[in-house]
Amino acid sequence: MPGDASENKGLAEANPAWYAAGLEHVWLPYAQMKTASLPLAVAATHGSRIVLADGRELIDGIASWWTACHGYNHPHIRAAVERQLATMPHVMFGGLVHEQALTLARRLTGMLGPHGLDRVFFSESGSIAVEVALKMALQYWRNRGVRGREQIVAFKGGYHGDTTGAMAVSDPQSGFHGSLAGLLPRQIIVDLPLDEASTAALDALLAEQAERIAAIIVEPLAQGAGGMRLHDAGVLQTLRALADHHELLLIFDEIFTGFGRTGTMFAFEQAGVTPDVITLSKALTGGTLPLAATVAQRKVFDAFWSDDPAKALMHGPTFMANALACAAANASLDLFACEPRLAQVGRIENLLRDALEPCRKLAEVEDVRVKGATGVVELKRIENLNGLRQRFIDEGVFVRPFSSIVYLTPAFTITEDELLKLTGAIRRVLA
Ligand SMILES: Cc1ncc(COP(=O)(O)O)c(C=O)c1O
Repeated sequence: MPGDASENKGLAEANPAWYAAGLEHVWLPYAQMKTASLPLAVAATHGSRIVLADGRELIDGIASWWTACHGYNHPHIRAAVERQLATMPHVMFGGLVHEQALTLARRLTGMLGPHGLDRVFFSESGSIAVEVALKMALQYWRNRGVRGREQIVAFKGGYHGDTTGAMAVSDPQSGFHGSLAGLLPRQIIVDLPLDEASTAALDALLAEQAERIAAIIVEPLAQGAGGMRLHDAGVLQTLRALADHHELLLIFDEIFTGFGRTGTMFAFEQAGVTPDVITLSKALTGGTLPLAATVAQRKVFDAFWSDDPAKALMHGPTFMANALACAAANASLDLFACEPRLAQVGRIENLLRDALEPCRKLAEVEDVRVKGATGVVELKRIENLNGLRQRFIDEGVFVRPFSSIVYLTPAFTITEDELLKLTGAIRRVLA
């Protein structure tokens, strides 16, 4: 069990029997199990609230790793999942299809298709969606008879997931897998083209090495788990131009940014450029069930279209296009269509700007940045991460700093009062 013995005893007494009985047997994410703080036992969630087993209620600033964009337990999504559960929770997608998946594919391509993205490959997590995107990019060239294009260009500060291929295109330091250094496929990790010098450097690298590069992958507008860094739309225009010039595929990983987080339904819309492949997950089901999608341009799909079985995309997760998850995603898209989500994101953005800006004056604060429904206070350093996390819990909010970052990615439906409580807690705790 993580944490020290006295802390364990106190929590075991305060929590239900299942907590102490089961905690010995789980391995928690991103945690040194010996020193990690004990996790909080959650009994229920609703709206932007997390109800703990000991009766406390926390205002949630993270929306479960940015997934629960409509708040928890939205009745419309719940009803759709319940209806689906009564008829068919899951059926394999090999040789069989079902209404929820095909409806979702049609609706997603209805949104993305005008940009040319019109084939959806479903999977069950963001990391796998990235793996599929990378496989598409690598095999795209082979299927076209081009050999040697085996590398992917990705960016410092990026994070694309925890599976082998996804780790290999994430920043080795901020991407959480430094302890596996040297064991992963070696990809080309460079600076984002943020200014003239870095653009020229990337252009020169591509000019020299394009024949061994298959694709560029980037998180558009906001790099999430790698450090919550923002860049402007011009960077995406630069990348599109470079990819076109050097004839590379361009992958936008919108697993963090997709579905409104940056103020538009998809971040790439703000740049007026389109990727060849896009990855989606997280808020796709409104945070209810695991589901991901890799959506490809026709030209990518066409490279796999052949009489030759060897040119097929050989991927097929057991739970791909799970019917419950697709029903949740369809219901989530209904909510985007009939509720003012993007306007809510705009209001959150304004409030976050006003309320977090005063943090900039604090001596320990390095930067304050806001984009859509994401607010970030970057500190010079965080000495005691566990202690800082606990301070927020004591304030009655769930905010989970990492590295040197304190951030908010709330549900778009959060009330003004709840958001002010979150930002007030950040100002107080950091002061
Ligand atoms: C941009 C991005 N890509 C990929 C992933 C990996 O998604 P998952 O955790 O569902 O595997 C994440 C998760 O944080 C992400 O933010």
